[in-house]
This record gives sequence, C-alpha cells and structure tokens, in this order.
Amino acid sequence: MKKKKVIIVGGARPNFMKIAPLMHEFKKYKDIFDVKLVHTGQHYDFGMSEIFFQNLEIPKPDIYLNVGSGSHATQTAKIMIVFEKVILAEKPDLVIVVGDVNSTLACSLDASKLNVKVAHVEAGLRSFDNTMPEEINRRVTDSLSEYLFVSEESGIKNLKREGIKPDKVHFVGNTMIDTLLASMKKVNKSRILKTCNLRNKNYCVLTLHRPSNVDNKESLKEVFEILEKIQKKIPIVYSIHPRTKKMMKIHGLLSRFESLSGLKMINPLGYIDFIKLVKESSFVLTDSGGIQEESTVLDVPCLTMRENTERPVTISQGTNYLVGRDRREILFCVQQILSDKIKKGRVPKYWDGNTSSRIVKILIQNL
Ligand code: UD1
Ligand code: UDP
Repeated sequence: MKKKKVIIVGGARPNFMKIAPLMHEFKKYKDIFDVKLVHTGQHYDFGMSEIFFQNLEIPKPDIYLNVGSGSHATQTAKIMIVFEKVILAEKPDLVIVVGDVNSTLACSLDASKLNVKVAHVEAGLRSFDNTMPEEINRRVTDSLSEYLFVSEESGIKNLKREGIKPDKVHFVGNTMIDTLLASMKKVNKSRILKTCNLRNKNYCVLTLHRPSNVDNKESLKEVFEILEKIQKKIPIVYSIHPRTKKMMKIHGLLSRFESLSGLKMINPLGYIDFIKLVKESSFVLTDSGGIQEESTVLDVPCLTMRENTERPVTISQGTNYLVGRDRREILFCVQQILSDKIKKGRVPKYWDGNTSSRIVKILIQNL
C-alpha cells in the first residue's frame, strides 16, 4: 500500500507543544505515513521556537518557511505564498494544523484551495469575540477542515451550531496535555526555582501578550496598576513575551514596570523550566490560552486577564477564573488564593496523555 503523505504545520510558540506528541506518535507508523514537518517561521527567536524543539525532542523541521513578523495581512499572505509551493511540490494527502495562530489559518486556506484535506487539532474552541485574531483564525480553519479534533466538550456544541457535519468531528482530548504529562520527569528535574531564587508556593507567575492587554498605553497602564498592588503581597515572576516588551518600549512604560521591586521580569523560558515555574507557584496570572489548560491539570489556580475564554472547561471543571483587568476582582481573588479559599479543580475528559494516539488511530482508519 502506498504510504499516506502528511504535512504537519507549526509556526508559533503554542504550536510546538501541540505538534510534539503527534510527531512522536506518527513515528510508530512509518510504514503507513510519510510525515513532513513544516515550520512557518512565524516565531523565530531561539526562546520562542528552537528551545521547544530541544526541550520536546521534536525533529528538525523538514521545511522552514522563514516568514517572520508582519501585519496580519502581510504575515498570512507571506505564509500562503510559500506554503502553496510546498503543497504543490510535496502533494500531501493531508495537512495537519494546530491551534489558532496566523500560520494555522494561512496553511489551511492553501491546502483547501488545492483540494488537500485539512485536519485541525484543537477545533471548535470559541470565545465569541471577533476582536481576537485567533477567533477568526479558528472559525475559518474549522469551516475548511475535513477532520476536526476537539479538545473539550464545548467544541462539539460549537461546531454543531455552525452546521459542521458530526461525522467530521472527533472528541479526542488535548495534545498540549499529552506534552505536559510526558514532560513531568524532566520538569521535576528543572532547577529554575534555584536560578530565580524562588521558594515553592511563595510567588506567582505572570504572562501577558494579548493585543487587548498590551497593545495600547491605557490597558498597559491598568496592568501596571494591578501588578503594583499584587507585588506588595507576593513576588511576581514575569516571563515577558517579545510583543509585550516591544509595546512597553513604544509606550515608554518599560522602565516603570522594571522599577517594581516585587516584579521580576525574565526572558521567555523554555517549556520545561516554565512548567516547573507554574507547577510550584501559588497561582498564575495570564492571558494565554494554553496556560489556562496546563494550570488546570497542574491544579494551580489561574487568574485569566481576559473578558472571555474559548476554553470554558477550565472554568467549569478546572482551576481557572476570568478576571479581565478588574483590579478589585483580581485583588479579591489573590486574597482568596493566599488564604487558601479556592475551588478544587478536576482534569477534563480525555486530557489523559493519549490524545495523539487517538488522533493517529482515527487517521489510520479514515484517511
Ligand atoms: C501569536 C499569535 C497568538 C498566540 C501567540 C503565542 C496570531 C495572530 N497570534 O501572537 O494567537 O497566542 O503568538 O505566543 O497568530 N516577535 C519577536 N520574536 C519572535 C516572534 C515575535 O520579537 O520570535 C515580536 C515581533 O515584534 C512581532 C510581535 O512579537 O511583531 C508579534 O508576533 P506575532 O507572531 O505577530 O504575534 P504574537 O503576538 O506573537
Ligand atoms: N510557555 C513557555 N515559556 C514561557 C511562557 C509560556 O514555554 O515563558 C508555554 C506555556 O507553558 C504553553 C505555551 O507556551 O505551553 C503557551 O503559549 P502562549 O501563551 O505564547 O500562547 P497561547 O497559548 O496564548 O496561544
């Protein structure tokens, strides 16, 4: 039997945790699949890209598109132009895209225009907020996909409401959690607490990169005022995203953040060190998508500085709270956490480390 040719696409930091377990799983079926990894180059700094290949033992990409940064249109269009050539040369039977970044959208558009089937891993998530670029990316990608691999039950309902045929939808769980569970041995060996001079459960972790929080001066100032209060109660370790650092500089606010004695700003960390930092923290303050999920599994309280989430299971079953930039609400939650008055979470269905195995089995049967 002729092998099925599969292209897996990754481009930005949160993609790499989602593709790693798929790459490892496909290796078991070399007689059935010929798999190629394409890196679009949407993220390119060592700390936003290559370190994850090392930490998660992902093989080097077969093809690197080197698109870099740009406006939405520029970045999406650049990826489309070069990825189209890849499809024409490689003639894959399937393109697998993950998550909701511009690389996800661009590559699924290319593939479907050339009548190549698309599989979307993490399909069906919806924030119902079209001001988020990711929401547009998710909706378009899902509408073009032949295989929709859903990570939580809300995704099944969302896709049904949008008229996607149920036989295309597969509730398989979360590949990001495959990576988390597979990494625990390495995580436990990380020495990052020592390096950062931190004590177990005596600090909180911060990440922020959503345009709604970091792109304009007013919202950055609100963030500053919140952090200024929290750092008086508990030290904050802030893994600062390059977008946020750039915005702080543009708005002349970087030195104000740097002046807070209880706020330790560090460069983006590799996955193993970052997860160790989260695991041992008192709580996480974030606007990340993936970190809402990881903190739920690690049973660490998570305050999500957004008005909505596309991952509602992390609230209904997990450790997540939506707090926006509401200073009073955030300080109340921090107080509750510090006095141990917090909900206990549980791990959502199929977030068990076997999602990639389910995905590959479905593809063996159906592709
Ligand atoms: C992107 C995704 C977002 C995801 C985030 C994960 C889109 C629309 N956004 O946002 O969904 O949550 O990645 O981190 O796809 N930069 C660097 N070095 C890098 C990469 C970026 O300095 O390696 C800087 C550049 O100034 C760039 C800016 O960060 O302009 C933003 O990068 P971009 O990929 O456009 O969007 P993110 O904010 O990273
Ligand atoms: N992460 C990391 N180092 C950091 C910050 C985040 O390894 O310094 C990981 C985090 O554990 C999660 C992923 O990056 O696996 C989330 O990426 P990000 O927040 O950039 O994107 P989002 O999930 O919001 O799309």
